[in-house]
Amino acid sequence: MTNFSFDPPGGREEAREVSRTTTLLRSTSPSARGAGLLNPPVHRASTIVYSTVEEYLSRHSRLYDGVIYGLYGTETTYALASAITELERGYQAVITSSGTAAITLSLAAFLKAGDHLLVIDTAYRSTRRFCEETLANYGVHVSYFPHDIGDGIGALVQPNTRMIFLESPGSLTFELPEVRAVTTVARARGIITALDNTWATPMLFRPIEHGVDISIAAATKYLSGHSDVMLGSITAATEEVYKQLKDTAARWGNSVSPDDCYLVHRGLRTLDVRLDRHQRTALELTGWFAKQPEVRRVLYPALPSDPGHAIWRRDFDGASGLFGVLLDPMSAAESAAFFNGLKLFKLGASWGGFESLMVPAWPPPVRNCSVVEEGALVRVHAGLESVADLICDLEDAFARLRAARDCA
Ligand SMILES: Cc1ncc(COP(=O)(O)O)c(C=O)c1O
Repeated sequence: MTNFSFDPPGGREEAREVSRTTTLLRSTSPSARGAGLLNPPVHRASTIVYSTVEEYLSRHSRLYDGVIYGLYGTETTYALASAITELERGYQAVITSSGTAAITLSLAAFLKAGDHLLVIDTAYRSTRRFCEETLANYGVHVSYFPHDIGDGIGALVQPNTRMIFLESPGSLTFELPEVRAVTTVARARGIITALDNTWATPMLFRPIEHGVDISIAAATKYLSGHSDVMLGSITAATEEVYKQLKDTAARWGNSVSPDDCYLVHRGLRTLDVRLDRHQRTALELTGWFAKQPEVRRVLYPALPSDPGHAIWRRDFDGASGLFGVLLDPMSAAESAAFFNGLKLFKLGASWGGFESLMVPAWPPPVRNCSVVEEGALVRVHAGLESVADLICDLEDAFARLRAARDCA
C-alpha cells in the first residue's frame, strides 16, 4: 500500500522554487519517478489487497493520503491532485467527476440545515440552480450579493452565515470581484470561502493567495484542453479543509477514472503554451469585434476599457480565451444568418478546448442584484486556430447579419 506525503513533484529536497511553467512539465507520481518514467502510470483499481489484518483494519486512517480502495483514488489520481495543488499553492486537492461536482461537493461539505450561504450574483447557472433547487430543499438559506460588493459583504453576513461562494470572472458577463476584500471579512467572521477559478486556471490566478479557503476548477476546460474529458478539482488551503472535502467526496461516492486523470495530467504539460495562444487570439478577436458597428461592448477583463481591468492587472498573470460580445438586439432570422453559416467557430456548450466556439447567451443570464445590459450577448471562445482564419469566419458572419438586416 502506498501513502503519499503530498511532496511537490521534484521532492522536498529541492529547496529552490521553480516556476509554474516548469512545474507543469515535471509533475509525476512516486512509482513513475522511481522507474524513470516521465508520466504517471494509469493505475486502475477497485479492490486493494493488504498484506496483514492490521493493515486492513486500519485502512480508513489512510483515506486522506493512501490508496485504500479504488473509489478514493489511485496513484494516478494523487499525481494529478498533487500537480494541481502545486499550481494552486494549496494544501491538497480532491479530484472530482466534473467541474459541477467540484462545486456541489465543496458546498455540501460545509453546509447543513439552518445555515446561510452567500453566493456571488454572477455565478455559473448550474451553481445557482444547485443552491436554489437542492441546497434550499436541504434547509440551507441562500442569498446573492453583487460582484462589486467588496468589504460591504460584512453588512450581508447573518449570525448563521457559514459560507461565501465566489466566481471570478462572472459567468457570461465577466465581472471581477475584489476577492481579497471579501475574504478578509470572511476570515474575521470565521466564514468559509470558495471560488470557481475555471476561467483563469491556477496559472493565471491563485485564489488561495487571496485568502480563499477552497479553489475550484472545472478541469474539463483548460486543464484538460482537448474537449474529451469531464473532471474537476477542489484545492483546499489547509489540512482541515482538505479532510472535510475528502470525507464528503468519499461519502457521496465521488469516483474518477484514472484514464481521465491521466489525460488531464497530460493536458497540464501544455497548459501554459495553450493559455498564451488563447490569450493572444482573444486579444486580436476582441479588438476586431470592438470595431464592428453592431457591437455595443466587449466583455473581457484584459481590455483597458473593461470595468474590471484594474483588478485584472493587479491580481491576474494573464487572461484566458473566453469573452463576451454584446451586439445590437438580433431577430431570430438575423441570429440564424449570423450563427448558422459559421465554419470554424462551432456552436457548443463548454469551452477551454482547442476549438473556437461561439454561442448565443440568451435567454439572458439570471441575476438578482444587477440588470443585464440590453442587447444580443454572445459568448466567444478563442481556440487555437489561426487568428486570420477566425477573422475571415467572423467577417462572413457579420456580412450575413447585415444582409439579413437589410432584408428585414
Ligand atoms: C465557470 C464554470 N464552472 C464550472 C463549470 C462546470 O464544469 P463541468 O462542465 O466540468 O461540470 C462550467 C461549465 O461550463 C463553467 O463554465
